Amino acid sequence: MANNNSMIRDLTLAPLGKVKLDWVKSHMPLLNNIEEQFRSELPFKGLKVSICLHLEAKTGYLAQVIQAGGGEVAVCGSNPLSTQDDVVAALVESGITAYAWHNATDEEYHLHMNRALDFGPNAIIDDGGDLVSLLHGERSGQLKEIIGGCEETTTGIVRLKALEKSGLLRFPMMAVNDAYCKYLFDNRYGTGQSVWDGINRTTNLVVAGKTVVVIGYGWCGKGVAMRAKGLGAKVIITEIDPIKAIEAYMDGFEVMTMPEAAKQGDFFVTVTGNRDVIANEHFDVMKNGALMCNAGHFDIEINKSDLTARAVKIREVRKNIDEYEMKDGRKLYLIAEGRLVNLAAGDGHPVEVMDLTFALQALSLKHIVQNGRLLKAEVHSVPIEIDRNVAYLRLESLGIHIDQLTKEQENYLSSWTD
Ligand SMILES: NC(=O)c1ccc[n+]([C@@H]2O[C@H](COP(=O)([O-])OP(=O)(O)OC[C@H]3O[C@@H](n4cnc5c(N)ncnc54)[C@H](O)[C@@H]3O)[C@@H](O)[C@H]2O)c1
Repeated sequence: MANNNSMIRDLTLAPLGKVKLDWVKSHMPLLNNIEEQFRSELPFKGLKVSICLHLEAKTGYLAQVIQAGGGEVAVCGSNPLSTQDDVVAALVESGITAYAWHNATDEEYHLHMNRALDFGPNAIIDDGGDLVSLLHGERSGQLKEIIGGCEETTTGIVRLKALEKSGLLRFPMMAVNDAYCKYLFDNRYGTGQSVWDGINRTTNLVVAGKTVVVIGYGWCGKGVAMRAKGLGAKVIITEIDPIKAIEAYMDGFEVMTMPEAAKQGDFFVTVTGNRDVIANEHFDVMKNGALMCNAGHFDIEINKSDLTARAVKIREVRKNIDEYEMKDGRKLYLIAEGRLVNLAAGDGHPVEVMDLTFALQALSLKHIVQNGRLLKAEVHSVPIEIDRNVAYLRLESLGIHIDQLTKEQENYLSSWTD
């Protein structure tokens, strides 16, 4: 049943979205399992949940799993370019309230987020910290209604920790990003594969033999660099952390400063969670034809205003690729307006990877609504039991069995004597 409060592009796209949802459902055995469990337990009965995530099919299924658990669910996008209008239409048809459309302007995007809060949530799932930020700012009147929530990504956790440190965080948040089953697989293997999927399908250019500069060797950067190497590229890493820089070197990559790397790259991928990592001085020395994209959460890693100011001409040369012609005639290319390339120019992480991440989200949300009133208004780690449970569910779905500790081994590992 369509919900009339929704703000979406076109409800008639619902059948297309349903096909996409059906595909992911047939590849997300962990969420299938949790959906069934939630249908009988109804952990969200009587509660409203607002979800701010990249609105494509995998996220759509997560929203439906929470709905199956008895929750009333509203969704809004966490990036204007990652929303898929057909998926959103299918969600609305399945009774979920949605405030999102692809390519929303900044004003529309903020309106959508505000509408998702007008929905009156008791719990939230956030991606990048925008809902939390609104709730602790202009929407603070709503704070007492919130039991707690879950945060999806590294940048959101950084913002949450800043809020916690300043003593202003008013409800408990689960750091889902920091669970092992999240960053080890989603940030590394998910980002690694999907960033190259996004670049390849958008540019249709060869990667082998070219120089790829990966800016930031965190969990995502490791994945992007590993897959670039697999595609046959020469890979350069830039870092500001000496330990990560040594790790990159020992993983077989060249490490250098950005001013040096800027001269050499054919492809640049920013993945730092930091701002202006490609800026003025770098644009000045880049090779003609260099392609840039961002895989970090916000579109601030490549300084677009610097790039625009240096350009004598800007034009779209292919869907999702803008050409910036510099005064000296060099042409630099920016993919997907510098927004998350794997989502704004692709379908995001592979389905099976998001099955792990969203299993963590669903179980963490259940944990927070069941325990939230007892938990301090802090950033909480996902309990190790949930992490291990998700890992076991994944192994089970793969038909892989692992050994168990014997009693003697358990005793040995927990004793300090011989
Ligand atoms: N594209 C996706 O689907 C996706 C998935 C997960 C996370 N993310 C986002 O990607 C970003 C990185 O996440 P992560 O989990 O890899 O974080 P991380 O903290 O593990 O890694 C970030 C790395 O960037 C480095 N860095 C910071 N400033 C730098 C600079 N000026 N130059 C070079 N290196 C610099 C840091 O030292 C660190 O090693 C975050 O914004 C996160 O939210 C994106």
